[in-house]
Amino acid sequence: MEATPTLDPDLLDKVTNLAKRRGFIFQSAEIYGGFRSTYDYGPLGVNLLRNVKQAWWRAMVQTRVDIVGLDAAILGPPAIWAASGHLETFTDPLVDCLKCKERWREDKIDGVCPNCGSTQFTAPRAFNLMFKTQAGPVEGEGSTAYLRPETAQGIFTNFANVLSTVRKKPPFGIAQIGKSFRNEITPQNFVFRTREFEQMEMEYFVPPADAEEWYRYWIATRLAWYIDLGIPEAMLRLHEHAKEDLSHYSKGTTDVEFFFPWGFDELEGIANRGDYDLSQHAKHSGVALDYFDQSTGERYTPYVIEPAAGATRAMMAFLLSAYHEDLVEGETRTVLRLDWRLAPYQVAVLPLSKKPELESVSGEVLGILQPHYMCDYDVTQSIGRRYRRQDEVGTPFCVTVDFDTLSDRAVTVRDRDTTSQVRVPLEGLLTHLRKVTGEI
Ligand code: GAP
Repeated sequence: MEATPTLDPDLLDKVTNLAKRRGFIFQSAEIYGGFRSTYDYGPLGVNLLRNVKQAWWRAMVQTRVDIVGLDAAILGPPAIWAASGHLETFTDPLVDCLKCKERWREDKIDGVCPNCGSTQFTAPRAFNLMFKTQAGPVEGEGSTAYLRPETAQGIFTNFANVLSTVRKKPPFGIAQIGKSFRNEITPQNFVFRTREFEQMEMEYFVPPADAEEWYRYWIATRLAWYIDLGIPEAMLRLHEHAKEDLSHYSKGTTDVEFFFPWGFDELEGIANRGDYDLSQHAKHSGVALDYFDQSTGERYTPYVIEPAAGATRAMMAFLLSAYHEDLVEGETRTVLRLDWRLAPYQVAVLPLSKKPELESVSGEVLGILQPHYMCDYDVTQSIGRRYRRQDEVGTPFCVTVDFDTLSDRAVTVRDRDTTSQVRVPLEGLLTHLRKVTGEI
C-alpha cells in the first residue's frame, strides 16, 4: 500500500466553508440560530448525496442477481428494539463535568473536560441513544415508538416476507438505504457524526458454514467500491476489531477506515452477525425466521454478513478526498476531483454571452444532454470565472456555446482535470461524453 498522504491542516475548514458557500450542506434551522449538529443538504449536496446512494444501489442491487431492495418504516414499536438488544445495550457512557456541568461521552474525552479542563466528573451512567416518541394521540406504554437507530432491523423483521415473495435462497441479500437516528452525546466533525443521518446497509444471508468466506468477500468488495469511486487507496485502510471490542451481536467486525483530517476513522463496518438477529426476532415474535433447503432437507437459521455504511459520512469522505488546490495559468484554483458518477453536475452548459441566438442553441444542447446527465446552466460572468466556479464544485465537463457554434454547429468541451479543450460537433456530443466517461 502507498504511504498515507499528508493533509492540508486547514482541509476540514476549507471543505466545510466550500460546502456552505456553494450549496452542498447548510446548518439546519440556520435562521433560528441552527439546530444541534443537524444539517440540510442544499442544491448541490442533494445531487452528490443522491449519486453516492445511487452508486451504492447500483453496485449492491442493480448489478447483482443475489440482492434485492427494501424500504422499511423509520418508526417502530419497542418490541423490535427489545429483540434486537437496542433497548438494553445501545448505550454510551454519559458523564457530567462537576465544574462546568457540560455532559460528555466518557470514552471520548481522555479524562479531561474539553470545555473547562476539569478532571472531576460524575460516575458514568448508561445513556440510551434511541429517540423515543409517541405514536398516536394517547400517551402511555402502548403508544411508545422509537425512531430506528439503524436500518438493519427492518430487514430482519421482513426476512420471511421477502423470502416468500422473491425466489431467493441463501446466499442472498436484502439492501436498504434510509435515515437513522441516534441521540449522540457528542456529535462532531461536521456531518461525520450527527443525530440524524443516512445509512446504506445490506444483510447477506448465508449458510453458517460459508459465513467466514462471505465475510472476507464483503470486506474486499466494499473496500474496492470506495477505490473505484476515486478515493486514493492510501487514504483507506481496514481495521479488524479485537474480540473484546465486538458489539453484542457480532462474531467479527472489520471497519473500512478513511483518513479524515483528525486521523483514520470509521467509514463503514462489515460484521459477521451470526444468527443473532433472526434467532432473537424469531424468539420474541414467535414467527419462524429460518430457511428450509429442499435440496438437502435441512432447516437452518442463516448467518448474516452485514456491510453497513453511512451515506452522509461517505459523502464527506468523497468531498475531502476530492478537494484540491492547483495552479492553472499562474492562478490557484480550487477543484473537486470527484468521479463523474458522483459530481453534483456532470456537465455545465455555458453560452459565451447572453445573446438570444446563443441561448437558443444552448437550449438545444441542454435538450441533448439533460436526459442523460445532470446539467448546470450558467450565463453570468466571464467564461474563465465560470470555469473556476464549475471546477470548485467538481463539474467534470463544461460545454461552451460560442458564435462559431451558430455556423459550424460545434461546441467546445473543456475537461475539469486537465483543463484541455476540444471542439465537438453537436450531433456527436453525447457520444463524445459517453466515450470520455467510459460509459461506452
Ligand atoms: N447495522 C449496523 C450499524 O448500524 P454502525 O457501525 O453503528 O453499524 C454503520 O453504523 C455506519 O453508519 C457507520 O460506519 C457510519 O458510516 C454510519 N453512522 C453511524 N452512526 C452515525 C452518526 N451518528 N452520524 C453519521 N453516520 C453514522
